[in-house]
Amino acid sequence: MKAVGVFPGKRTVELVSFDEPNITSPEQVKIRVLQVGVCGTDREICDFEYGTPPEGSEYLVLGHESLGEVVEGGSTGFKPGDLVVPSVRRPCTHADCVACRAGRQDFCYSGDFTERGIRSQHGFMTEFVVEAAEFLSLVPPELRDVGILVEPLTIAEKTLMQIQVIQQRLPWGLTPGGGAPPRGCHRALVLGAGPVGLLGAMALVNGGYDTYIYSRSRTPNIKADLAESFGARYISSQEMTVAQLAAKMGNIDVVYEALGASQLAFEVAQVLGANGIFVFTGVPKHGDPITIDTDLLMRNMVLKNQVIVGTVNAGHNAFEAAIDDLKTFNRRWPKALRALITGRYPIEAFREPIFARSGIKNVLVMEAK
Ligand SMILES: NC(=O)c1ccc[n+]([C@@H]2O[C@H](COP(=O)([O-])OP(=O)(O)OC[C@H]3O[C@@H](n4cnc5c(N)ncnc54)[C@H](OP(=O)(O)O)[C@@H]3O)[C@@H](O)[C@H]2O)c1
Ligand SMILES: [Zn+2]
Ligand SMILES: [Zn+2]
Repeated sequence: MKAVGVFPGKRTVELVSFDEPNITSPEQVKIRVLQVGVCGTDREICDFEYGTPPEGSEYLVLGHESLGEVVEGGSTGFKPGDLVVPSVRRPCTHADCVACRAGRQDFCYSGDFTERGIRSQHGFMTEFVVEAAEFLSLVPPELRDVGILVEPLTIAEKTLMQIQVIQQRLPWGLTPGGGAPPRGCHRALVLGAGPVGLLGAMALVNGGYDTYIYSRSRTPNIKADLAESFGARYISSQEMTVAQLAAKMGNIDVVYEALGASQLAFEVAQVLGANGIFVFTGVPKHGDPITIDTDLLMRNMVLKNQVIVGTVNAGHNAFEAAIDDLKTFNRRWPKALRALITGRYPIEAFREPIFARSGIKNVLVMEAK
């Protein structure tokens, strides 16, 4: 069967071929891969900036965002035909890593976790994979054409859960479900209108936040139109300064950063509102140092009770929440949800979605024979 293999040693990315895997224990599930999403991490791996093949292998099979169909479920309870999404991160083996021992490898202490398609474990850009049932989430059939968005949505879901936990410090709650505030009374600002930002904005609108997106491209553009179609307000950083944005929004309760650009992120951190929470999800490339007003940031954090927090990857609960939210998005905004997937490519054309930076979310559609 075919797979996309990254060879860091010889610096090539090629279609490789190897035998179909088979179940070797009753806890495993054999899956036919249906679709694999492409993101910036895949691009970095194919530029040989990141990514590690499994021990003993010359290449790494790429792909960490996937949707598959069960072909053999062993004694796991998964049945042939079930749609599933696997998580990405796998636990480290250290006995004293309480996070991994608790199944929360997204909070791994040792840093020795592995990740499918990224770090020391083959990924999903292939025809069949075998996976332990504990790392799978069941996706309902109505999400077959959009289920590939589950993994990128988990970043927002983990963020929302973190906000809910952290903002319990406020005696009146902040997030919907947390108590008194009516829907729309809290303002969220999403930085960046890529797939992570747009999915985050959908989750925030759905969670009852008055949601703004601040991103580079001038209006009109397709991402702005899409954002407006599900109830978020899009503002271009080329058309409005951060100060003007802050004046327009009023108290900014939540910032969901999905830019991967630190300069703008820290500029916005300076206008975070009273009791606000700023969540970083972006992973910037290391560039030249920038100057920021640390006195202002520190004064604001103290005098306005602010929180700045980072979040990476996601636990099983965020996958389950993403599937639940996708069901809701599918009912509320079926057109907008589908408009997030802008390109579908066969495995042979894998270079196009990886290297051509166009559209929003591009996917490989696997055709297992
Ligand atoms: N924490 C995690 O677990 C996790 C997981 C996956 C990804 N990530 C990170 O999340 C971030 C977003 O991912 P993505 O796939 O959505 O990325 P993306 O497709 O590159 O989107 C980034 C968005 O930010 C905007 N942008 C970038 N630099 C800007 C600047 N200087 N000023 C204004 N706007 C700017 C871009 O605007 P234009 O469209 O106008 O160019 C684009 O809309 C990345 O840094 C990625 O590494 C984190
Ligand atoms: Zn990704
Ligand atoms: Zn660990």
